[in-house]
Amino acid sequence: MATVTRRRALAALAPVLGAGAATRLLGGNAAAQDHHAAAGATTGHHAASTNGHSPLQHAGFRQGARVDHERNGFHPSALVRDFDEGTTRRLASGRVLREWELVAQEKEIEVAPGVAFAAWTYNGRVPGPTLRAREGERLRISFRNASHHPHTIHFHGIHPAEMDGVPGVGAGLIEPGKSTVYEFDAAPFGLHLYHCHAAPLAAHITKGLYGAFLIDPKQGRPEADELVMVMNGFDTNFDRSNEVYAANSIPFAYMDEPITITRDELVRLYLVNVLEYDLINSFHIHGNFFHYFPTGSSLEPSEYTDTVVQCQGQRGIVEMRFPTIGKHMFHAHQSEFTELGWMGFFDVCEDRKAVCDLPMGP
Ligand code: CU
Ligand code: CU
Repeated sequence: MATVTRRRALAALAPVLGAGAATRLLGGNAAAQDHHAAAGATTGHHAASTNGHSPLQHAGFRQGARVDHERNGFHPSALVRDFDEGTTRRLASGRVLREWELVAQEKEIEVAPGVAFAAWTYNGRVPGPTLRAREGERLRISFRNASHHPHTIHFHGIHPAEMDGVPGVGAGLIEPGKSTVYEFDAAPFGLHLYHCHAAPLAAHITKGLYGAFLIDPKQGRPEADELVMVMNGFDTNFDRSNEVYAANSIPFAYMDEPITITRDELVRLYLVNVLEYDLINSFHIHGNFFHYFPTGSSLEPSEYTDTVVQCQGQRGIVEMRFPTIGKHMFHAHQSEFTELGWMGFFDVCEDRKAVCDLPMGP
């Protein structure tokens, strides 16, 4: 049987089913055959499962089946405002020591309704926790590998070579059951990321071993409603291309539950791209413009725009205010990514802490 690639399936389905409907192929027969064929030819991976419904039985993600966030153990609506500051104590020198514990563990997560993905995670979630520190602190990350494959944590930032989390340098690969400690100074301020650096790199990243790593400037940043989005995708049939795209893992999650924003309040979005297999990713906002701070390493924005492009590993800070209430769409400006899940809504209301979530219309 010829392999049905995601792109060919999308091309065939899109004109018939319309925008967004191609996502249904994930639960469809063609996709199921493709999963089995691809999984059978791939070693060292678990097959993705489907729920066996025909494509037309699904009303699409948005009106139909939902991912079981509870079973996944993380919810995109909580994750988007979840910053992990670890624990701190003062050293004799007066300096702050900030500590976290990260555990690599295998976990099956539902990445689209009825589609299970055998993920590799830090602390049971994808993306891993958003680690947040302040410029100049001493950082200590205890890493334990509770999975069946060797892994590392490679941090972006400035640190000694032996703390870099790559094979053959310092502690190198951390074998199953083993632990290590990464320790370095928080520098430079900005938005960074961390990810496993075991080979094959693409496999270790696409399986879910990554997260955002934020270093606040010493003087801080202006008060804002802060959000984090890690742009990612999943290759559910192991053909080295993604079947679903998202910010914070779950396709259409912010269509199902828009992110509530307060009118005129400063919104600061920490945006990271870790997407594997596709060369670029992007973020586009409707009905608004934003200031963009590449890598967050300057306090002066470089651009005033409504669209920004990031390669894998690139990241930046988006700052904007919404002058009018209502739903503002955001999505990748690669339409293909959009239709396979990477889209959502900001729901701008007078006061986000008051009730302002209106059910999505059809
Ligand atoms: Cu790994
Ligand atoms: Cu990297």
